[in-house]
Amino acid sequence: SNVRIYHFKIQCPTNFPEIPPHQEVARVARFIAHQCDWASMATISTHKPVMGQPFSNVFSVSDGPRGSSTGVPYLYLTSMEVSVQDLQVNPQASLSMSLAQTDYCKQLGFDPQSPLCAHIILSGSVIQVNGTEADYAQKALFSRPPEMMEWPKDHDWFFAKFNITQVWVLDYFGGIKMVSPEEYFQAAPHKKQN
Ligand SMILES: *[C@@H]1O[C@H](CO)[C@@H](O)[C@H](O)[C@H]1NC(C)=O
Ligand SMILES: *[C@@H]1O[C@H](CO)[C@@H](O)[C@H](O)[C@H]1NC(C)=O
Repeated sequence: SNVRIYHFKIQCPTNFPEIPPHQEVARVARFIAHQCDWASMATISTHKPVMGQPFSNVFSVSDGPRGSSTGVPYLYLTSMEVSVQDLQVNPQASLSMSLAQTDYCKQLGFDPQSPLCAHIILSGSVIQVNGTEADYAQKALFSRPPEMMEWPKDHDWFFAKFNITQVWVLDYFGGIKMVSPEEYFQAAPHKKQN
């Protein structure tokens, strides 16, 4: 009586923008960086009992308002936050983003650990931004789920960017691929309009 038939198709999920071909690794990296609203960021801990050890934590990120990608992950931070305290001692960090955070992998049945469920790891450091770049960071971040603008004002929030020194991409079989920051920033994340 209540039998349902599910149809599985390997194609881009409906309402999900088209991912670039997996050979175009830099474009895939830019695509992922734009689709993801949050990232896991690893810092070198300054806190007992794990001082000196990697410490991975969740942060909201945005590289621009939807449809307007810069490739630069912007962050909204406060020095009251445990990982930000690590960054004040050592700004080097690693940021990881995955299409597992979107409907893409779920709808296609790709395991988050599979390279088909495309993901990136960014190496670099976190730098505070000011002036017009901070204005842009605010626009980029507050245009995604806009709850941030209501976060407590007395927490001394500031805008920062992840300054990328190396991009690592897992988007297909055959091992991780490296993309330089230059290649990454030159790549077009979305299909060009004709
Ligand atoms: C931004 O302003 C802060 C606080 O005044 C300063 O410490 C930092 O160096 C500035 N960053 C840039 C990139 O100008
Ligand atoms: C920022 O990244 C560039 C490479 O994209 C690197 O040359 C530069 O030294 C980095 N700046 C800092 C402050 O880490």
